[in-house]
Amino acid sequence: MTSPPPARPDAAASVADTVAVIGAGSIGIAWTIIFASAGIRVRIFEAAPGVRRAAMDEVAHMLGELSGAGLLDEPVATVLKRVEVLESLEAAVSGAHFVQECVIEDLGVKQSLFAQLDALTDPRVVLASSTSTITASAFAAGLARRERCLVVHPANPPYFLRVAEVVPAPFTAASTVATARALLLRARLTPIVLGREIEGFAFNRLQAAMLREAYCLVRDGVVSAEDIDTLVREGLGLRWSVIGPFTTSELNTRGGLRRHAEVLGPVYARIAVERGGDNPWNPDTIEHVASTIEQRLPHPAWEDNVRERDRAMMRLASLLQHFDNPLADVRPRREDLAGVTPMTAPQ
Ligand SMILES: NC(=O)c1ccc[n+]([C@@H]2O[C@H](COP(=O)([O-])OP(=O)(O)OC[C@H]3O[C@@H](n4cnc5c(N)ncnc54)[C@H](O)[C@@H]3O)[C@@H](O)[C@H]2O)c1
Repeated sequence: MTSPPPARPDAAASVADTVAVIGAGSIGIAWTIIFASAGIRVRIFEAAPGVRRAAMDEVAHMLGELSGAGLLDEPVATVLKRVEVLESLEAAVSGAHFVQECVIEDLGVKQSLFAQLDALTDPRVVLASSTSTITASAFAAGLARRERCLVVHPANPPYFLRVAEVVPAPFTAASTVATARALLLRARLTPIVLGREIEGFAFNRLQAAMLREAYCLVRDGVVSAEDIDTLVREGLGLRWSVIGPFTTSELNTRGGLRRHAEVLGPVYARIAVERGGDNPWNPDTIEHVASTIEQRLPHPAWEDNVRERDRAMMRLASLLQHFDNPLADVRPRREDLAGVTPMTAPQ
């Protein structure tokens, strides 16, 4: 076992000063950038020698891009000084207060890596996995010090989508969750702590619901794949970047979320049954969501909150006016314009 990290006065709600990032694929590089640009030292270990050699350049390149876009508080060289690539797992975890595992999505690989980490590190070190689909119960149940293991799942690309899911196993200690939360907050990410382990966690279950329907609509010839992307990018996604789906329900219908559930709940329930699911929104959950959302809104009157949403959408629209996005060419397609003649006023 490596020597324990130096004792710290705030050890109870400890915020890590040094994080070991294991695996330098896209997620390991991204965590490195997030932590280092928040003032945290990062020690990387990557098993593939070629990837290991390229890791520092990758980090420097992306830091340069972020800096060019005005998204870095400090010079690239200052941030880079906090990053080190080590030649062994043992060296990387030495002195680290927190380990963020980012290796391939394979249960066996994660199980054996966590067994090594459990043996190599001081028991106070938190061991977090970036996994998208594997629970800590699956990769850490057999470990001697499993209470310090959990999932900290980032969204991709992590430096732009600044939320991460914190998913404890039943055996994860509350202090482990607190340490993970504190680290994410320090790294300027919003932690979303799940109440329990569930396959796909929350982020991917929300994506799954949308993709399930999107595939059905394309399969059944209702709408093209391209138009699904446009509907989400120019419609739902744009609004969701300002308010989430529950606040959307609250502000879309006069009478708020309860009225929205009354009007649209049965329609959505029929759609779900048509797709083989049967999970109607139950009245207790609707009431719980409605009161939670109401409490979070800035104004007591519905109309004022709707105006606030519109003002936010206006600010976003103004920012996006000159947004050039080669991935989304929304100019009318030539075939759409063929045969369209300009309207003339009736004589
Ligand atoms: N890509 C995404 O969108 C995304 C989003 C969130 C979470 N994740 C999760 O993050 C993790 C990493 O994903 P990625 O997309 O960066 O994968 P990746 O394949 O790009 O990188 C994984 C890296 O881990 C290295 N590796 C494998 N075994 C190792 C070991 N024992 N020790 C050290 N390094 C090892 C590999 O050589 C590789 O470079 C996965 O668990 C994935 O599910 C991915």
